[in-house]
Amino acid sequence: CLKQLPKGWRGAAVRALKWKGHFSALFNYKTEKYIVAKNKKVGVLYRLIQLSIIGYLIGWVFIKKKGYQETDESIQSSVITKVKGVSVTNTSESGVLLWGPEDYVVPPQGEACLFIITSFLETPNQRLGFCAESPKVLDGHCQHDSDCKEGRLVVAGNGVTSGQCLKKNTNSTGTCEIYGWCPIEKYFKPKGPQLKNAENFTIYIKNFVQFPKFSFSKSNVLETADGSYLKKCRYNEEINPYCPIFRLGDITKRAGYDFQDMATFGGSIGISIEWDCDLDKGYSHCHPKYHFVRLDINVSNNSISKGFNFRHTRYYKSTEGQSYRSLFKVYGVKFNIMVHGMVRIEVLTHLSASKATTLGTCLIVVRVQDVIVYVSLQGAFFCDMVLLYLIKKGTSYRERKFEGTWCGK
Ligand SMILES: *[C@@H]1O[C@H](CO)[C@@H](O)[C@H](O)[C@H]1NC(C)=O
Ligand SMILES: *[C@@H]1O[C@H](CO)[C@@H](O)[C@H](O)[C@H]1NC(C)=O
Ligand SMILES: *[C@@H]1O[C@H](CO)[C@@H](O)[C@H](O)[C@H]1NC(C)=O
Ligand SMILES: *[C@@H]1O[C@H](CO)[C@@H](O)[C@H](O)[C@H]1NC(C)=O
Ligand SMILES: *[C@@H]1O[C@H](CO)[C@@H](O)[C@H](O)[C@H]1NC(C)=O
Repeated sequence: CLKQLPKGWRGAAVRALKWKGHFSALFNYKTEKYIVAKNKKVGVLYRLIQLSIIGYLIGWVFIKKKGYQETDESIQSSVITKVKGVSVTNTSESGVLLWGPEDYVVPPQGEACLFIITSFLETPNQRLGFCAESPKVLDGHCQHDSDCKEGRLVVAGNGVTSGQCLKKNTNSTGTCEIYGWCPIEKYFKPKGPQLKNAENFTIYIKNFVQFPKFSFSKSNVLETADGSYLKKCRYNEEINPYCPIFRLGDITKRAGYDFQDMATFGGSIGISIEWDCDLDKGYSHCHPKYHFVRLDINVSNNSISKGFNFRHTRYYKSTEGQSYRSLFKVYGVKFNIMVHGMVRIEVLTHLSASKATTLGTCLIVVRVQDVIVYVSLQGAFFCDMVLLYLIKKGTSYRERKFEGTWCGK
């Protein structure tokens, strides 16, 4: 149209038209134009995509992943334990000993990780003095006194050399004389579990958890009006699943092992406390589940790394004021208590319960619909591509979809 105008005017006219266009576009109403593509294959494809999206949303997002619920996995937890039971032992070295929890639980302050002594080897009446180093210590072997220079610290040994080599004979072993706690520990193998009734000991596990996001807190101790409940109950998966008192023998049995098998050389057991609570069901429906597992399974038949032991001492003073000690090499079962879990809450109920504004509720609906809108757009986009570029009559569809108008023709 502009060709009919004189040359100088053309630029100005174009600019004016542009501005006019911008201005009138302000008052245009735009509406969407729908083109119905009558193509069965593409139609079926579109419905299939829609169906799978809806199926995904309902089946996976809502039912399986509980997308309508909000979760809090940042668990804060504290564990306190208390072991009860007594045992009596009678060995040639120590005579008759009575063992209470303060003797056989290490450390005694009720940690989440505790060791219970089931077997021990005692070397009583050790005093500081001179004696031969153990032949099991390689660095302590000697031929001459020069091998045992005075004041040398024996590597992986029991003391300081005195400068004398005790020659190999009927009474001696061919090792350096040392200054240390004498007599040194004899080598002996554990003969069997000595705290025989250790499987009847009980462990009371108190666990407090908090989930800060929903300010929810709970303990694993069942809230009951029965004052003597904790005195009588024992944990049992079927009959008494909420009792926090466990018999050691039951714990190892549930982990798949016999307590007496572990009691001689020691072992390690994991107790996991799992919280998985749906807070919509109510406070009283939130209970932990316990799982037991042996953690040192694959080393149990390997003689070098078999079991678990450590040494500790008890110190005494004689009437003359001289100190002496008893050295204990102890074997036992280590219990590790691990806590994990999460709580869930339904978003919509939670919002209405906490008197949320409609804005909050809307946001969630939009959030859920976002997924639908987004994926259905994807479906339409995919079908459009098929229509436009992949099928035979694509060109005619393309022409209709992108209609153009020309000026002046
Ligand atoms: C401890 O064992 C010894 C023998 O090893 C025995 O003579 C003694 O009576 C036992 N003591 C108890 C209280 O069983
Ligand atoms: C071994 O000890 C016994 C007594 O304890 C002693 O009579 C004997 O002479 C000692 N033998 C040697 C080679 O030192
Ligand atoms: C454990 O206690 C039961 C009875 O409560 C008893 O029959 C059993 O012999 C005890 N086990 C051991 C190893 O003492
Ligand atoms: C123990 O280790 C062996 C390989 O050394 C492995 O094949 C086996 O599955 C392990 N057993 C367990 C219970 O982990
Ligand atoms: C260890 O030995 C016992 C028999 O002594 C056997 O039943 C068990 O399967 C063995 N365990 C492993 C991990 O090899």
